[in-house]
Amino acid sequence: MYDRIESAGLKGRDFLSTQDWSVDELETLFSLAAQLKADRKAGLPTRILEDKTLYMIFFDSSTRTRNSFETGITQLGGHGIYLSPDRMQISHGENARDTANVLSRYGEAIAIRHCAFGEGNAYLSEVAAHASVPVLSMQCDVYHPCQILADYLTIREKFGDTSGLKLGVAWTSAPNYVRPISVPQSLILMMPRFGIDVTLAYPPEFKLLPEIEAQARLNAEQSGARFEITNRFEDAFEDADVVIPKSWGPLVHTRDHDEGIRLIEAYPSWRCDAAHMALGRDHMIYMHPLPADRGREVTDEVIDGPQSAVYDEAENRLHVQKALMALTM
Ligand code: CP
Repeated sequence: MYDRIESAGLKGRDFLSTQDWSVDELETLFSLAAQLKADRKAGLPTRILEDKTLYMIFFDSSTRTRNSFETGITQLGGHGIYLSPDRMQISHGENARDTANVLSRYGEAIAIRHCAFGEGNAYLSEVAAHASVPVLSMQCDVYHPCQILADYLTIREKFGDTSGLKLGVAWTSAPNYVRPISVPQSLILMMPRFGIDVTLAYPPEFKLLPEIEAQARLNAEQSGARFEITNRFEDAFEDADVVIPKSWGPLVHTRDHDEGIRLIEAYPSWRCDAAHMALGRDHMIYMHPLPADRGREVTDEVIDGPQSAVYDEAENRLHVQKALMALTM
């Protein structure tokens, strides 16, 4: 498998959204991720990126993304450098063009997390426009593509053929902070391309970007999958095979922080518990990208219960990102 990495033709490609990659290209990535995962578990060497350097610029905090990327590049034989904008000359106004050009002269890829609404994707795109090495999204305000790669690999591992499965993506109430909309947006974009029927449930103020919802509809039409939006929490669970209940902010509705928190607090019953889980098919699995707000987004009984796949999902961040780095770097 590793000898087919070069011929995949993905070296140098940016990864800002799954939408930029064809289904065939994503299939190549999932095959390689599965191989890397199996080889790691078998104790086989996977040093595909010896002497290669990945720069990781984090405008926002992270547990899974930082550690899975940094561990991944280590396991591939390369080196990851954690960069915080407040310790870079970005803090003194150095622009995306200069940052992109300079880092391109040193290493083999630039990964960025920048979730500020209305800024993050523009910054990643600007770096990608000027970098001569691949730019990999570690989450922006619009997309979290690596999370959705891990989610899909997890679903495929649990169910095999994913065509015709029902995935419920449900908003949940977690007023401790206003979360980005990038996870639900990336889910509704990619899952229908693999034949998965998606039901997206949110209170009216938590709608997603209209162009993303429109693209998700188009993706579903093209693959023959179903995509529906509902304002009823239970619709995401009924007869579902997979459910991903998670919080996001009413950012399309309002940019006002206090108003956002007030709206999140207005729907406390949008919380996943055992009764909701009973609405799904017997084999339904619970997923969440983490961190989860235990008690408000989901009960401990569910997230720690037999239907929960959250740690498999978190682990798969490592394997899909190793494949992503191996293919693009
Ligand atoms: N799911 C996820 O991206 O986790 P972190 O914010 O911890 O990176």
